[in-house]
Amino acid sequence: MEDQRDELSAYYDARAPEYDEVYLGKSPGIPEPETYGRDVRAIRTVCAAFGFGHLIDIGCGTGYWFPYYGKNCSEVTLIDQSRSMLVESQKKVNEQLTDVDVHFIRGNFLDVRFFSKIFDSALVAFMISHLTEEDEYVFFKKLMEILKPKSEMLWIDGSWSSVRKKYRGKRGLQARTLNNGRSFTIYKQYFDENDINAVIKKYSLTLRSLYMGDVFFAARTVLRH
Ligand SMILES: C[S@@+](CC[C@H](N)C(=O)[O-])C[C@H]1O[C@@H](n2cnc3c(N)ncnc32)[C@H](O)[C@@H]1O
Repeated sequence: MEDQRDELSAYYDARAPEYDEVYLGKSPGIPEPETYGRDVRAIRTVCAAFGFGHLIDIGCGTGYWFPYYGKNCSEVTLIDQSRSMLVESQKKVNEQLTDVDVHFIRGNFLDVRFFSKIFDSALVAFMISHLTEEDEYVFFKKLMEILKPKSEMLWIDGSWSSVRKKYRGKRGLQARTLNNGRSFTIYKQYFDENDINAVIKKYSLTLRSLYMGDVFFAARTVLRH
């Protein structure tokens, strides 16, 4: 388990400078750029209508979604365990003309200690899919502790679809290769609509809206309490 976490961390550290290529459909995963383009455009629109008060962007990566949700918030905390990803996200934030109060935290979300109930909204994009069942439980427990009652969470992640099936397995250790040929083995899972609803129910969330694309989905949810 510890080895897998280290491998994931090393993978994203090395991938940071080329990570945003995935949003242009330049992915070794699915060689269908138009499908990526469609889902990315739809999810940008979802993000542009999301966010309130103090938002936490968990596993923020390069901060790709910040330009879309940022303007809706008064304060944003971006957290990622990868130093290189945070460097990219700082560049992204600096490119925006924004008076939003922005904080960066480097660390494993599962380990970092926060004051309780300080956030009004959360964005979690392509991170839950890297969690084992055990870590998923720890993740949601922590999320519930730091979000105010009735906060919203936008969950963006990889869809399990007929398109995905052609190129990937649904769940388990998967190989990822960078542009320079360096290879990593990481844990990853994809979600169909039933899986998404099961997670939402399990952690006492209510689904507000769901965009279900062939490669990506965006589930807008609200805490029941
Ligand atoms: C697939 S990338 C997604 C980046 C970004 N959210 C996006 O949508 O473009 C996953 C990110 O989550 C980070 N990550 C994974 N597990 C994490 C954890 N336990 N704590 C903090 N960051 C984590 C990785 O370092 C990586 O930057």
